[in-house]
Amino acid sequence: MTVLVGRRESFNAAHQLCDPDLSDDENRRLFGKCANLHGHNYVLEVVVAGDVDPATGYVLDLKLLSDLMASQVIRDVDHRNLNTDVPWLKGCVPTAENLAQAIWERLRPELPDGLLRSVRIWETDKNWAQVGDGA
Ligand code: NI
Repeated sequence: MTVLVGRRESFNAAHQLCDPDLSDDENRRLFGKCANLHGHNYVLEVVVAGDVDPATGYVLDLKLLSDLMASQVIRDVDHRNLNTDVPWLKGCVPTAENLAQAIWERLRPELPDGLLRSVRIWETDKNWAQVGDGA
């Protein structure tokens, strides 16, 4: 039987939605006030799914997942400017959609094959984006 387990972490970061290849006017038309530098209290939720290991009773030790989220994501993004400070976000507009995809790619190789089910990033308490289907 497949069981889902998850972990939630949070971080604070600044971003602005702008494409450096476009003019200020074009960016303002595309992204509105989000083209200005501003911050969010992000929440990152990661879900893994698999069989329960009879030896431990775990699908995955959530301490291990927490450590991975810290080392692969939080350490790089917390109190940073997502447009300029994070090497693995270089070249992407740091929307919640793009963050979710980039974080999925950061975590997937670090987890046993097939275990990662979803990555959801909350940008505000009302807006989120998700990769995978573990909602
Ligand atoms: Ni924003």
